[in-house]
Amino acid sequence: MMHHLVQLAYLVATVLFVFSLHGMNDPKTARRGVQAGILAMALAIAATWAQPSITHHGWILAAIIAGIAVGIPLSKVPLTAVPQRTAISHAFGGLAAGLVGTAKFVLWSVYEPEELSQFRMGAIVLEVLLGFLTVTGSLMAAGKLQEVKWIPQRPVTYPFQNVSNIGLLGLAVLFGVLLVLNPTGSGAGFLFAGVILLALAFGVLLIIPIGGADMPTVISILNSYAGLSAVAMGFVLDNKLLITAGALDGASGLILSIMMCRAMNRSFTNVLFGAFGQVQAVAVDSEVRHYKPETIEGAAQVLEQANLVVIIPGYGLAVAQAQHRVRELYDQLTKAGITVKFAIHPVAGRMPGHMNVLLAEAEIPYSDLIEMDEINADMPQCDVALVIGANDVVNPAARTVKSSPIYGMPIIDADKAKTVFAIKRSKNPGFAGIDNELYFQDRTFMLFGDAKAVVGELAKHLAGGGGH
Ligand code: TAP
Repeated sequence: MMHHLVQLAYLVATVLFVFSLHGMNDPKTARRGVQAGILAMALAIAATWAQPSITHHGWILAAIIAGIAVGIPLSKVPLTAVPQRTAISHAFGGLAAGLVGTAKFVLWSVYEPEELSQFRMGAIVLEVLLGFLTVTGSLMAAGKLQEVKWIPQRPVTYPFQNVSNIGLLGLAVLFGVLLVLNPTGSGAGFLFAGVILLALAFGVLLIIPIGGADMPTVISILNSYAGLSAVAMGFVLDNKLLITAGALDGASGLILSIMMCRAMNRSFTNVLFGAFGQVQAVAVDSEVRHYKPETIEGAAQVLEQANLVVIIPGYGLAVAQAQHRVRELYDQLTKAGITVKFAIHPVAGRMPGHMNVLLAEAEIPYSDLIEMDEINADMPQCDVALVIGANDVVNPAARTVKSSPIYGMPIIDADKAKTVFAIKRSKNPGFAGIDNELYFQDRTFMLFGDAKAVVGELAKHLAGGGGH
């Protein structure tokens, strides 16, 4: 009876996990998606814990308390640090899978060698390999994103790097095959330790040649590895929920990384082996060209005359935490009968959905957040494109300059608007480290300053409180 109840709970949890992922497809249903995920996880833990074969309740309780103690501070990191926080979560996931696999191997080989079948050994090897490489890979990725001093930000490359990395992985796989062939052989313990060490080393070496710009994509790939590791763990522990949940995790991580690659016009192999993010030797002739600064008053006047204003947010909006000021500006403009739309580039910011999350926090209606393809059709009719802390995602070089690192990336056509106002603090480039032609074109005017301050002043001015 208990067994059937547990299996039923697992089935319900699996369905909830599917709903959870589906809900997170859209900002309108994302919150419900997260709630479904929490419910599914609570159900999964409760059903597993309720099984009569589970003992050592004190340890389980201690682990839950430790998890909560680590989880709460992790949930409080600022939005800009969410990619590295996510990487740390994957490291924990990989570590859990790796440790469970190791424990199972040790327990079975010492106490019940007859239980250690070739199939189980294969599953354990896969679990441990993927689990431990996720640990070091994710920690390295988090370190690079957090700009930890002793981890080089730039891609580190050396001769025969790919060959030696693949050789290392090949050696780990060879050890694994030997273990599967003879799970309880005399050298099994050494081979097993070898798999762990090689996996840990491979995780580090995998990330070393990858630059910061590709890190969110890599984190998503590592998420997928952690998921696959959980699938293997499901086979080891004969737990169907781990298999289904791990498969969902593995597949969604993979799909997300493919989507990110497409949005940045990068091939998957290029991300893993391409050493993107190296200093690009792009000819910068900005000294001979001139920015045209504009005043708040001047910009406010033009905005007041507009019918359609398209706001294009980017990473700078997140850095400045300007979303609430943007909401004020939005309110002032819409009050004056001006149509305001937000152009959302799929890789604006530093993580998928970054802009959606920020703007949702300021309660901008979802219906005014328009995806890139759709908004680009409106750009020629747009009176003012207001670029707030965005750079690469509006850089026309992506269309024409073949040597540019962002060549081929789809962009928001800000340059087609009748007037462009661009808010940024300095003449520094964006993530890709390249100049932006948009800032020099005839119709573009710069509003230099911190996005929060500038947008705040614009909103105040439009409300009639500034300067007059
Ligand atoms: P970026 O190209 O990084 O440009 C951000 C701009 O914001 C900078 O030019 C910066 O100029 C400005 N800025 C920074 N802080 C500011 C502040 N407090 N106030 C005003 N402006 C500020 O951003 P983007 O256009 O959003 O492009 C995203 C980039 O990240 C792309 O290259 C994309 O491929 C990459 N990327 C994204 C993702 C995801 S999933 N979103 C993943 C990996 C890589 P100043 O320093 O002069 O202020």
